[in-house]
Amino acid sequence: MSFDLSVFSNKNIILAVTGGIAAYKSAILVRRLKDYGFNVRVVMTHGAQAFITPLTFQALSGNPVHTELLDPEAEAGMGHIELARWADLVLVAPASCDTIAKFAAGLADDLLSTLYLATKAPVWVTPAMNQQMWAAKPTQRNLNTLVEDGVHVIMPEAGSQACGDVGLGRMPEPEDLAEQVKNYFHQAQRAIAEKFGLLAGKRVVITAGPTREAIDPVRYISNHSTGKMGFAIAAACYSAGAKVTLLAGPVSLDTPNGVRRINVSSAIKMLDESMHQLEEGCDVFIATAAVADYRVAEVAEHKIKKAGDELNVSLVKNPDIVATIAQQSKRPFMVGFAAETRNVEEYAAGKLVAKKLDMIACNDVSRADIGFASDQNAMTVFFAEQYQMEKRDLEKASKQEIAQQLVEAIHDALNHKIEPV
Ligand code: C5P
Repeated sequence: MSFDLSVFSNKNIILAVTGGIAAYKSAILVRRLKDYGFNVRVVMTHGAQAFITPLTFQALSGNPVHTELLDPEAEAGMGHIELARWADLVLVAPASCDTIAKFAAGLADDLLSTLYLATKAPVWVTPAMNQQMWAAKPTQRNLNTLVEDGVHVIMPEAGSQACGDVGLGRMPEPEDLAEQVKNYFHQAQRAIAEKFGLLAGKRVVITAGPTREAIDPVRYISNHSTGKMGFAIAAACYSAGAKVTLLAGPVSLDTPNGVRRINVSSAIKMLDESMHQLEEGCDVFIATAAVADYRVAEVAEHKIKKAGDELNVSLVKNPDIVATIAQQSKRPFMVGFAAETRNVEEYAAGKLVAKKLDMIACNDVSRADIGFASDQNAMTVFFAEQYQMEKRDLEKASKQEIAQQLVEAIHDALNHKIEPV
């Protein structure tokens, strides 16, 4: 998962476009911001409309474009004060010399300059202009004033300009700008999660995916686990403020944002890395990996040649990673998973005790609509006896929603524990 697109669906960006040839890049910028899930409203100065039409931005943003300060119709829809309050960020891209000068002087003679004075939201300014106009003393003086006033100025890039000059003044690419906006909100959300999240201050280690047990240099034993549930849990723990390390078997999934990923292959490697993580400090250990129960007793040094109708490969039992970690003296809060095809709850409750877990989440993988490769899941969660907590049924939902509910269950258990006498 590269990024959860729903993360920014409650964040509002005003993209203010002013007169400059770079205005064409702003159209793409709207697309990129929308890709990240932001709500985007576009404000255009009269100068901007000489370069690109409001209709383009209306189509791309899915919202009416704001151009006039005192247009009764526009004010009846969303007036300039309402617009100023709506914004979580005002991004001026491209920002012309004229707009920068107006901001610096505190003028309020059009919609954008008025909005600038009326908003409490952070304002980012992306100057884009001819290199000589950029270097001009009044422009630099005005920019200094904006910085002093708390505006974030995104430096223009150097290169060849539409006017034929070469120098500083090019607007950064829309992808870069959109990423800067995403990172800003991401860091702001992370800061809140680290303070107030359900797992704030916790270090979480998660095993995920299958393991791969070599037979010879080209063959292996493995299973169909996709790692989706473990990766979704890693993302949910991170969003809840935890520091997350993901020990991933061979899977083709993007690393969740902010999560530290360590790729491992065999069960032995996964155990070694789990022990190492334990030494580094771990508060919660979540074992979602579908660890191969057996490995080949002796991995052939060279590719095994076809010979005869039968081939016997001797297998030995793999260590139980979650049970091994649970036996350590400084053990973290232990969460296991049980994928069963029958007697689901009975087997899961048995594993909770046998592996000395604090919590186990079980699901019925005989159901085609949930489990292994599905994007949905449904689970029942059991807690160890000392928590005196009722089992929880997590109704069928996306793996992201189930992951969120599991984080809540972990948080509740961490706060309910009644020490055995
Ligand atoms: O015994 P079973 O494989 O059903 O147990 C499932 C739980 O134990 C899962 O949490 C899984 O990640 C963990 N496990 C493990 N090491 C193994 C086998 C299972 O950590 N070798």
